Amino acid sequence: MAQPLSWFVPELKENEETPVTNDNTNESDIPGSSFFKLASECELNNDFSGAFANYQKGVKLLESAFDELPSDHPFKENYRNKLSDFRVKVLRLSKKTDLQHRRAGQSGGSHHRRTQSTFTSSNSQTGPPSSDDWKKDDYTKGVEPPDQNNNHDNKKNQKKSEDNPDAAFEARLEEDIIAESPNVSFADVLGLNSVKLALYETVILPALKPQLFTGLREPGMGILLFGPPGNGKTMIAKCVASSCQCTFFSISASSITSKFVGEAERLMRTLFRMARDKAPSIIFIDEIDSLLTARGGKSEAESSRRIKTEFLVQFDGVGASTQTNQEKQVLIIGATNLPEELDDAVLRRFSKRILVPQPDFDARYGLLRNLVQKQKNNLSEEDFQLISKKTDRYSCSDIKNLCKDAAMGPIRDLGVNIVNFSSEDEVPDITIKHFEQSLKNVRASVPPDRLQHYYDYNKKYGSIFNLSNIDLPPELRATELPPVNM
Ligand SMILES: Nc1ncnc2c1ncn2[C@@H]1O[C@H](COP(=O)(O)OP(=O)(O)OP(=O)(O)O)[C@@H](O)[C@H]1O
Ligand SMILES: [Mg+2]
Repeated sequence: MAQPLSWFVPELKENEETPVTNDNTNESDIPGSSFFKLASECELNNDFSGAFANYQKGVKLLESAFDELPSDHPFKENYRNKLSDFRVKVLRLSKKTDLQHRRAGQSGGSHHRRTQSTFTSSNSQTGPPSSDDWKKDDYTKGVEPPDQNNNHDNKKNQKKSEDNPDAAFEARLEEDIIAESPNVSFADVLGLNSVKLALYETVILPALKPQLFTGLREPGMGILLFGPPGNGKTMIAKCVASSCQCTFFSISASSITSKFVGEAERLMRTLFRMARDKAPSIIFIDEIDSLLTARGGKSEAESSRRIKTEFLVQFDGVGASTQTNQEKQVLIIGATNLPEELDDAVLRRFSKRILVPQPDFDARYGLLRNLVQKQKNNLSEEDFQLISKKTDRYSCSDIKNLCKDAAMGPIRDLGVNIVNFSSEDEVPDITIKHFEQSLKNVRASVPPDRLQHYYDYNKKYGSIFNLSNIDLPPELRATELPPVNM
């Protein structure tokens, strides 16, 4: 849990005039101020990447403090103004950094400097960021806290990153490690019992009882989640991130690709090395088809081919017998809507390929119940059954959209009278009439032939399990509400 950020808010003395204008907040009082000072120093010295990194860190701190402030807090407006100023600076600097990087060529100079300058301004008159600031910054996970009294460590870190030519890549990938727990759990995920069991067998059990999972029982290294959009591929990966005690890298094409020749492969290599170093770890690659489509196509760029080759090599390296047991504990989870476009060699490496299907009747019913119970409604058991029946072919996210639309029904009914309502309790209930209307507005988003295509693909290449909620270990079961009015 993140610590409360209330201490970031400068205390107001009793009876003191509250500052309300942009100019009343002293820049040195605002959260993240030490980073902002460092950043402006870097900027003066033309170290744009250093400035960029420090502004980013300052902005993160200021954002968290801003979110913590109640909306009527006198500093709210000041923080908002400062935030927008600093965000503009970050944007402007990101362009300059790009330019600086391009000039530095392949040596990766500016990125390298960027990581160093974040905490290593030993000559800085304002001093490094305070260790309090450091604690609050989620984006510095894995970076040693700065020691205010001793610059020796900072110099040591600088030396370390000079020795390590991949330091810039590591810094970039550090940003893709999910440090805080995403706000979802397996109980929120309806259906998907086979996906849950596969994850249980491959990730959770082996972590709990490693001594049982040796030899033939050694867990596979790759799980591919495929299926129509909006049914929980990304969501379930977030559940894994929040429930397992692993380092979780959430990677997308933009984290790995680069416009500089040779950099993308190095990023891929660095990713796997970091995953091994920080094992047990999970590399989750969302929309994996955008990175690893079949090789040899006419329009395939040379760089894209090299990324795929590097991926295959690194994947094989993960389970190599030369590695220690700990280094072997790296799992790769891929998610895609287009499994047929993946390279065959990539597909082979994902030993479990699991369809994340459209929700069946029970899953639709459960999802409807879970979503609607959060709002005032007078739907009966029969109503829920009826809506579940009528939403055949709807994806989970279609159902979510349907519920959102129906929830707007009572507001639409009120028309201009809405201005007379001040509390949510006064708004009338959602009824079946609203759902009937919304069923005309919100339609299923995946065409039937496309769905059939996924089922056919699953028959050919998928790992097929048939499980119900009750077959799962209790901690993975979805929340099931009892029938209405019982
Ligand atoms: N099985 C599910 N149970 C409950 N809610 C779900 C489920 N699947 C999807 N949702 C809802 O739909 C939203 C979108 O789901 P998600 O992003 O995981 O889909 P996806 O399969 O990754 O889609 P895409 O292929 O387009 O990336 C989720 O944030 C969640 O609110
Ligand atoms: Mg997704």
